[in-house]
Amino acid sequence: MRLLITGAGGMLGSDVVAEAQRRGHDIVALAGRAALDITDLAAVRACVTTHQPDAVVNCSAWTNVDGAEAEADAAWKLNALGAAHLATACAQTQSWLVQVSTDFVFDGEKGSAYHEFDPVNPQSVYGASKEAGERLVRTALPDRHMIARTSFLYGKSGKNLVDTIVRAAQSRPSLTFVEDQIISPTSTVDLATTLLDLAETPLAGTYHTTNAGQCSLLEFARFIVAEAGLATPVNPTTFAEYVASAKPAAKRPRVSPLERKMLALRGMDTFPSWQDAIRTYLKS
Ligand SMILES: NC(=O)c1ccc[n+]([C@@H]2O[C@H](COP(=O)([O-])OP(=O)(O)OC[C@H]3O[C@@H](n4cnc5c(N)ncnc54)[C@H](OP(=O)(O)O)[C@@H]3O)[C@@H](O)[C@H]2O)c1
Repeated sequence: MRLLITGAGGMLGSDVVAEAQRRGHDIVALAGRAALDITDLAAVRACVTTHQPDAVVNCSAWTNVDGAEAEADAAWKLNALGAAHLATACAQTQSWLVQVSTDFVFDGEKGSAYHEFDPVNPQSVYGASKEAGERLVRTALPDRHMIARTSFLYGKSGKNLVDTIVRAAQSRPSLTFVEDQIISPTSTVDLATTLLDLAETPLAGTYHTTNAGQCSLLEFARFIVAEAGLATPVNPTTFAEYVASAKPAAKRPRVSPLERKMLALRGMDTFPSWQDAIRTYLKS
C-alpha cells in the first residue's frame, strides 16, 4: 500500500519509515517541516492530492511539553490545526489517517490505567492541543481515522530517557527518580509495528498503543541501570518533591499508564512487555 509518513525524520517517524520499508510498502517519507509543513493547509492538500496515499501516518508534532506553555499558539497550530489539515486532505482523497496522540490527554486522577473509553481532561497546553487534534481528526474523518495514544517513547533516532539514564549511571555516583509517577514506557520500534498493523487493517477508532505493563519512573530507571550492567544506586523521590524542586512549566499526569483495551478487543495486541522492549533496545 502507499503510505505517506509525516515527521519521518523524528524519533517515532524514522522507525515507522524503517518498518514500512521492511514490509515493502510504497512510501512517501516527509522528514520535517522542510519537506511538508503540516500547518500550511494548501501545502498539505497539494501533497496528499499528488501522492493519493492509502493512509497517512502523522508522526509530526510539537513535543516540547514545557515549551508549549510559553509558545502555546505554536503548539496549538501544529498539534491541533496540523492534524486537522491532514484529516481534511485525507477526506478529499479517501485516505485513512493514523494520528499519534498521548497519555497527556488524561489528568492522572483516576489512579490506575486509562482505557480508551475513559474521559479525557488534559492539564497542559501540550495535552490540550493533542486532544483537540484528536477531536478535529474524528470530526473530519469519522470513518477513516485511527487515533493511536502512546506514552514515554524511546527510540534510537531521538533524545530519550533510556539513553539519558544509561549515560547518567555511567558518570554519576547515584541517581534519583520519582517513585510515585506511574507510566507505560514504549519503544518506537514496537509502536511502529502496531501503527502499521493499524494502517494495513484499518478499523476506525481510538487505540492505546504502549508496551505492556506499567512501572514507576524509579522502577524504570533501576531496570535500565541493571540491564546496562551498572551498579549505580537509584534513590527514590516523590512526584511532589520533584515538582517543588524542578518547577516544570507544564502540569503532568502523575498516574497515566494506558490499558490497550481496543487492541485487545480487536485481537490486535502484539506489544511485548516494557521490560522486554528495553532489553531489545539496549542490545541494539
Ligand atoms: N516522545 C514521547 O515521549 C511521546 C509520548 C507520547 C506521545 N508522543 C507523540 O508521538 C509522536 C511522535 O513523537 P516523537 O517523540 O517521535 O517526536 P519528535 O522526535 O519530536 O518528531 C516530531 C517531528 O515533527 C516534525 N515537525 C515539527 N514541526 C513540523 C511542521 N510544522 N510540519 C511537519 N512536521 C513538523 C519535526 O521535524 P522538524 O523539526 O525537522 O521540522 C520532527 O521530525 C507525536 O505525535 C507525539 O505527540 C510522544
